[in-house]
Amino acid sequence: MQRIFSGIQPSGVPQLGNYLGAIRNWVSLQADYECIFCLVDMHAITVWQNPDELRKHTLTQAAILLAAGIDAQKHVLFNQSAVSAHARLGWIFNCVTRLGWLNRMTQFKDKAGKDRENHSSGLYVYPNLMAADILAYKATHVPVGEDQKQHLELTNDVGQKFNHDYGVDFFPQVEALIPPAAARIMSLRDGTKKMSKSDPSAQSRIELTDDADTISLKIRRAKTDADALPAHPDGLADRPEARNLVSIYAALADMTVEQVLEAHQGQGFGPFKAALTEVVVNAIAPIGQETTRLLQDETHLLQTLRSGAQRASAIAEPIVSEAEKLVGFLK
Ligand code: TYM
Repeated sequence: MQRIFSGIQPSGVPQLGNYLGAIRNWVSLQADYECIFCLVDMHAITVWQNPDELRKHTLTQAAILLAAGIDAQKHVLFNQSAVSAHARLGWIFNCVTRLGWLNRMTQFKDKAGKDRENHSSGLYVYPNLMAADILAYKATHVPVGEDQKQHLELTNDVGQKFNHDYGVDFFPQVEALIPPAAARIMSLRDGTKKMSKSDPSAQSRIELTDDADTISLKIRRAKTDADALPAHPDGLADRPEARNLVSIYAALADMTVEQVLEAHQGQGFGPFKAALTEVVVNAIAPIGQETTRLLQDETHLLQTLRSGAQRASAIAEPIVSEAEKLVGFLK
């Protein structure tokens, strides 16, 4: 069976973009792949995280993933820092990757902005740790949103360079599984910015633990324009906010954008937002309720993550030990 690895940063509460771009796919891929899902706490601290908040978000994310349908018995769910193989292989990859490759990473440029000198070196080498996450398990498929595509290209470059430098055929090439629709959900406040769990404005995103009233309010306040919905997707071309709301509707209702427009053409945003709220609440509210229930038993969540880490380690340890031997480390 082919192996999947994917991760999410516990830097906040997962939002609708995480759900549509990644988590929802993770749930359905469980039927056909051996899956390893990771709460990447080491990636999270590449930007400042309050320690109490990091602990809280890691547990909440574990609960959300279980509530969304991740099966932690059949598959593997754990937090990254609990398996040392990630850090060890990450270091080797720091020594394989060329600086020029990292200089081209658009996520670093976006996150660091003009104030590059004041960001952590961890943020800069972030893609190397991500490559290590995946290749420590020799995973072949990685379900992610579109924003991670460049990181997966770098993963393949690092794996290939390692194989070339040490004259082996050790690390496989990996394939990104990016959903055809909803691979990039945008902010509710600005249709040109990606929806993100770390955006300072909570109004910009729908969090998976939001209740029906909060979801309804956020959608009512979402930025739109004054025009009615067009009959055809071409009519959304220069309307990023409108396009985003229609795409969210389509993804959650399992419809195409064309079908959504056919059903709602000519409508203003008042009625469309009401219809959208219903679709979002139906999809998200049950996850929030189940998350609240699971969070009441912290011990069980911690046990689930601990058992996941043991099983993850059993897979990664022989692979990373072999990589260390290939490099020439005394074992
Ligand atoms: P993170 O925590 O930013 O996001 C987790 C997943 O959600 C997807 N995503 C989105 N999809 C659509 N629209 C959006 N607005 C949106 N926002 C986020 C992301 O593409 C991602 O799939 N670097 C990764 C974490 C990571 C990882 C890995 C992923 C670390 N190691 C190894 C895969 C494999 C990240 O920051 O995800």
